[in-house]
Amino acid sequence: MIGMAKPFVGEEEIAAVVEVMRSGMLATGPVVTQFEKAFNDYIGAQHGVANVNGTTALHVALLGLGIKEGDKVLTTPFTFIASSNSILFNRAIPVFIDIDPKTYVIDPDKLEAYLEKHYDSSMKAILVVHLFGLACDMPRIMKIAERYNLRVIEDCAQSHGAEIDGRRAGSFGDAASFSFYPTKNMMTGEGGITLFRNGDEAALGRKYVNHGRVDQYLHDVLGYNYRMTSICAAIGLEQLKRLDGFNSRRRANAAIYNESFASLDAIDTPFVPAGYTHVYHQYTISLKQGDRNDLQKYLADKKIGSAVVYPFSMNEQPFYKGVCEYDDVSIAEATSRRVLSLPVHPMLTPDEVQTVASAVTSYFA
Ligand SMILES: Cc1ncc(COP(=O)(O)O)c(C=O)c1O
Repeated sequence: MIGMAKPFVGEEEIAAVVEVMRSGMLATGPVVTQFEKAFNDYIGAQHGVANVNGTTALHVALLGLGIKEGDKVLTTPFTFIASSNSILFNRAIPVFIDIDPKTYVIDPDKLEAYLEKHYDSSMKAILVVHLFGLACDMPRIMKIAERYNLRVIEDCAQSHGAEIDGRRAGSFGDAASFSFYPTKNMMTGEGGITLFRNGDEAALGRKYVNHGRVDQYLHDVLGYNYRMTSICAAIGLEQLKRLDGFNSRRRANAAIYNESFASLDAIDTPFVPAGYTHVYHQYTISLKQGDRNDLQKYLADKKIGSAVVYPFSMNEQPFYKGVCEYDDVSIAEATSRRVLSLPVHPMLTPDEVQTVASAVTSYFA
């Protein structure tokens, strides 16, 4: 079976975990601080606060920026549910802005148009998601945010190492969140980190990660136990050394697909704007004709995995009725009916990628 994901665990990761186990310091400790600094420096951010997964990393970002009940946060409806759930965790209101049909990420024109029509003072932030490994148009989004005095949070769960003109995703906004789940571009088993621009906001985020603690058994806010373990941080330090290599392999795999599909009119392949470095967390095709389920079955019969990421626009989730706002998200809804992700992870051999590419091509022939 050619699968959708296969985390790489090297001898270095195993040795690093054994070292932590032998040290006896299993929970949060100096290795976590070391990982926070190393990852923060890699992205080019200011302050790293490690925590337990990409969902808590989003929650901590919003808590650190002070997003509270009744605040509105403008965001994309085409993402994993954790992105917009983090807004609901704080009893704030997700406001969905439609996506660009070519890049699948939030459309700055639609964001601007929505703000022109609906802006009110309860709108506090924009939460962008750099989806599938491609960054959103951050220079444009930061300008819009400045004009309306909105904070910016970058959900980078799928974009470790993605760049715009050499600047890494996660270094543009007021806060950024990353996931280190095993299927991600780098992993720590489970894990997450929140990066902050402002030191006071980072300190507040860090407080929320550790029960809102200001001193031993003294707490001045309702906090959580979101502390990363030293075991996860040790894995993360080793994986970070491999991240650029993993991403090169993903890009090489994507290049094989791009070349194979160049003359295939039935599908759209991932669009990469000039100056952007895509890190292909997913290689997602969009069917212009044919039946997605049928293609998926055809591939499965040939022992090739594929995944619908994502089958619904977030406004269609049953429990989002009445808790979100939006005007028109028809591109997100239509896109969710057409996309199919193919295996692109770095453990695939070029032959395996070619096998998948040939199968897709032969399906449409
Ligand atoms: C865009 C996005 N945001 C947030 C998350 C949440 O990360 P985690 O699964 O580590 O909680 C994910 C995970 O798939 C994601 O894809």
